[in-house]
Amino acid sequence: MWAYQKRLQYPINIKKKDLRMAKLLITQYGGSNGELAAALRYLNQRYTMPDNKGKALLTDIGTEELAHIEMISTMVYQLMKDATIEEIKAAGLDPHYAEHNKALYPTDANGVPFTVTYFATTGDPLADISEDMAAEQKARAVYENLIDLTNDPDVIGPLLWLRQREVVHFNRFKELFEYYQNKLQNPTNMDASTQFKPAPMKNNTSIMDSISDGLSSMNQFLNNFNTKM
Ligand SMILES: [Fe+2]
Repeated sequence: MWAYQKRLQYPINIKKKDLRMAKLLITQYGGSNGELAAALRYLNQRYTMPDNKGKALLTDIGTEELAHIEMISTMVYQLMKDATIEEIKAAGLDPHYAEHNKALYPTDANGVPFTVTYFATTGDPLADISEDMAAEQKARAVYENLIDLTNDPDVIGPLLWLRQREVVHFNRFKELFEYYQNKLQNPTNMDASTQFKPAPMKNNTSIMDSISDGLSSMNQFLNNFNTKM
């Protein structure tokens, strides 16, 4: 369960409306590298992490991404709440107004609606955490792009803070990746509570055996797993 705190994770107080920036910033809500994709990615992937260490980290970061959605939504709202119809039309936001008035709606900067195809869940912890590390780097890059596109300190401050959180998340995912990678390469490090079960690899052992000598180390790796499961 979640307990809601009625405050933003970082204060947002934008005093100048800026529809151009609102139109760009919305991508960190509903774009491919945005906070909604991040939250859903981690909160879905967490169930198939092999142990409580991984489940806890994905739950923690997925939860924080929900708070970041709230920050981005607040920024977009404040940037456009006082706009006139003429200003909305001049900024090219009239299609948004036609569908949503001034309400929030998750799209990218081009107005393309959010889609769940922005993230994957493979059930393989190394594959999923690799995606998570890349997602954090892409989110960081987009925040830096957005910072380049504004001079408003009320916008830059929260964006710098969000960018820094992406760096922290990347580092924590990297630690988790290396932790699981070490367990895979050294199966004796695995304790009974770890319950690391890469089911697809186990099922494909006979196929892998027949491919080539170059995969012999892979077979050894798989055999080690089979004896553990
Ligand atoms: Fe993040």
